[in-house]
Amino acid sequence: MTDKIAKPFLKWAGGKTQLINDIEKALPKDIFKDKFTYIEPFVGSGAVLFWMLNNFPNLEKAVINDINEDLINTYKTIASRPTELISILEILQNEFHALEGNEENKKLYYYQKRSLYNTRKEEQSGQAALFIFLNRTCFNGLYRVNRKNEYNVPMGGYKKATICDKENILAVSEALRKVEILCGDFEQTLDFAKQNTLFYFDPPYKPLSETSSFNSYAKDEFNDNEQVRLKDFCSKLNVLNHTWILSNSDVKGKNENDNFFDDLYSDFNIQRVEAKRSINANPDKRGKLTELLITNQTANQEYVRAI
Ligand SMILES: C[S@@+](CC[C@H](N)C(=O)[O-])C[C@H]1O[C@@H](n2cnc3c(N)ncnc32)[C@H](O)[C@@H]1O
Repeated sequence: MTDKIAKPFLKWAGGKTQLINDIEKALPKDIFKDKFTYIEPFVGSGAVLFWMLNNFPNLEKAVINDINEDLINTYKTIASRPTELISILEILQNEFHALEGNEENKKLYYYQKRSLYNTRKEEQSGQAALFIFLNRTCFNGLYRVNRKNEYNVPMGGYKKATICDKENILAVSEALRKVEILCGDFEQTLDFAKQNTLFYFDPPYKPLSETSSFNSYAKDEFNDNEQVRLKDFCSKLNVLNHTWILSNSDVKGKNENDNFFDDLYSDFNIQRVEAKRSINANPDKRGKLTELLITNQTANQEYVRAI
């Protein structure tokens, strides 16, 4: 048992911690009066998942999904074999920290573990430990693979990064008891929707320009056709009376003639919220950046804040 509150155990591109206040305000409050199911089809590091698990006692069951098999293997390992995972992480942490001050040896160690990870031959908890090790020690916590699904992010420059957060792994393991963990395409989550269900979608964002954003978390790209397929899925959920909320980039903020999402989701409620990104060094790009929160419900009006 642990009293610690579970929080994301990974750094992940597009982590939603910054957007939680806005998501909270956009939520239709009625859903929380009774027991409800929470479904997150693009879970990533689960910032919203853990916030939901920690703050909504009526959340009876959660279902999470992601297409990234290595990520989902890590969730499953934390859920079922947390102490075994912690033992391996402690070894990795001790070995890596012992090399502090010797960049060459640190690099050798990192790239050796990266190659081992890419063989994908370790058993489940060994593979999950390597996934966490690489996430904690790589450049900017990125997850990027090539066409052959080989992880290819270089080492980061952190000093004594925390590789084994034992307390949090135990807290996450406990929190995952009421969570069903799936790996695959987002559409498969429909089978798990019950009467009172809230979906939160955080798909790979549509890039603001050809070169700007990095949205390849997995081997397959999430292109405009995928964005349309996701919208069709949301329309289907709407017909089936399920509540959903979705975040995405605000392409119109970058180019006012770009109505891609305004057209696509014209039947639903689109809100623009301020994106709290680190200040851009390039003055041309400093303008106020917004993101989209789209839902098929009207939020409790007292919570809606115009920006
Ligand atoms: C923006 S990230 C999610 C970020 C997450 N909400 C967080 O707080 O870290 C998008 C996720 O969608 C996953 N993904 C990409 N295509 C998918 C698909 N077709 N079905 C399910 N998941 C997919 C990626 O692996 C990635 O983890």
